Amino acid sequence: MIKDSIRNLNLSATLKINEKSKIIESEGKNIIKFGFGQSPFPVPNIIIEELKKNAHEKSYIPTQGLDKLRESIANYESKKKNYNFDSNQVIIGPGTKELMFLMHLSFDGEVLLPAPSWVSYKPQSIIAKNNHHWIKTSAENNWFPLAREIEKIVIKNSGKKYILFLNSPNNPSGQVCKNLNEISEIVKKYNILVLSDEIYSELAFDENYTSIFEHCPEQVIISNGLSKWCGAGGWRLGYFIIPKTKIDLIKSIKVLASETFSSVSSPIQYAAISAFEDNHDSYILKSKKILKAIGDYVYKNLKSNNVIMNRPMGGFYLMPEFLNKKFNSSAMLCDEILTKLNIALLPGSDFGFDEKRMIVRLSFTDFDGDNFMNNIKIDTDIKDENIKLYAPKVVEGVNKLKSWVEN
Ligand SMILES: Cc1ncc(COP(=O)(O)O)c(C=O)c1O
Repeated sequence: MIKDSIRNLNLSATLKINEKSKIIESEGKNIIKFGFGQSPFPVPNIIIEELKKNAHEKSYIPTQGLDKLRESIANYESKKKNYNFDSNQVIIGPGTKELMFLMHLSFDGEVLLPAPSWVSYKPQSIIAKNNHHWIKTSAENNWFPLAREIEKIVIKNSGKKYILFLNSPNNPSGQVCKNLNEISEIVKKYNILVLSDEIYSELAFDENYTSIFEHCPEQVIISNGLSKWCGAGGWRLGYFIIPKTKIDLIKSIKVLASETFSSVSSPIQYAAISAFEDNHDSYILKSKKILKAIGDYVYKNLKSNNVIMNRPMGGFYLMPEFLNKKFNSSAMLCDEILTKLNIALLPGSDFGFDEKRMIVRLSFTDFDGDNFMNNIKIDTDIKDENIKLYAPKVVEGVNKLKSWVEN
């Protein structure tokens, strides 16, 4: 009674690792959680207060989202991108994941996924019955596709419609895309739609972060929300900003939203206004400072002739490749590390890499972000001693991995 297209979807290695981690934990063992991509920081207090104040809001909100929130988001993004967005271009969803799913359902065409890509893009495209194509990337180009690699695929059937997923800073690589200009040339040449997944953009370590939107605004859907920079993954609030020229896409996502989730929780939408209107600069600066320091610590201490990786440029992740370890698949490598060292990592195969490459995703968020934040000042130079004190499990995990690799 189950459709073949759904039956054939595998339980991801990610879920399997999480399930196994829980079993090991229930045996009283201490797991180092390098597998989980959740912000370690608390939601800013002022936004929590807004949620408390708005707990009484009980009515359904129009499907597209609260007017005031959509205006706040349009203003916030207009300032960030030096553009003039209209609130009618904004649609609010219960996380960007759901909006992406509705976009996949609406879109009639082929899906272009750089390898590596976030775990859910591919399964969502399969559920929506769109073909997907993996695009080759390399460490030299920060794990983002070169324009010619995109063109190689599109040119085979240029009569079709394509959507390219571009996620910068990236989950799983932790890298920022630097060749936006040449990618945008191909996007314009073949009229490709781009889903710019900017969920980690506020956590880019370099102040000069730019989005592909700045290169080809007519082709780009901006996707962002509260889950990462604001530590509010469980609040489930994300948004899309869709180009005015793609009005049919706004309409169809709205219809699908109205037939599925109706609208995002009212108190959450009221509280979210504060995320876009109040000043959170010092919270974001501290978050980035801590993440950068910890990312650099892991990079410096784990990198060797046997373990290669790029230095993190934003977000929570690093993507090491183990050159001297040979298993049948990266999932088996992760299983061995979990069983032997009690360290949870995710296999590169879940992100589109060949399973024979011993690549993993390491999320360096297993620390108490509230405590770390409260114990440093905005101008504190974070040293290894601070990391040892406030992120001891990250240090322990790196040490264990290092000695396992060398033996
Ligand atoms: C790259 C990327 N995109 C999108 C999401 C989905 O975020 P949300 O649905 O919470 O907005 C995540 C969450 O892990 C992510 O890592």
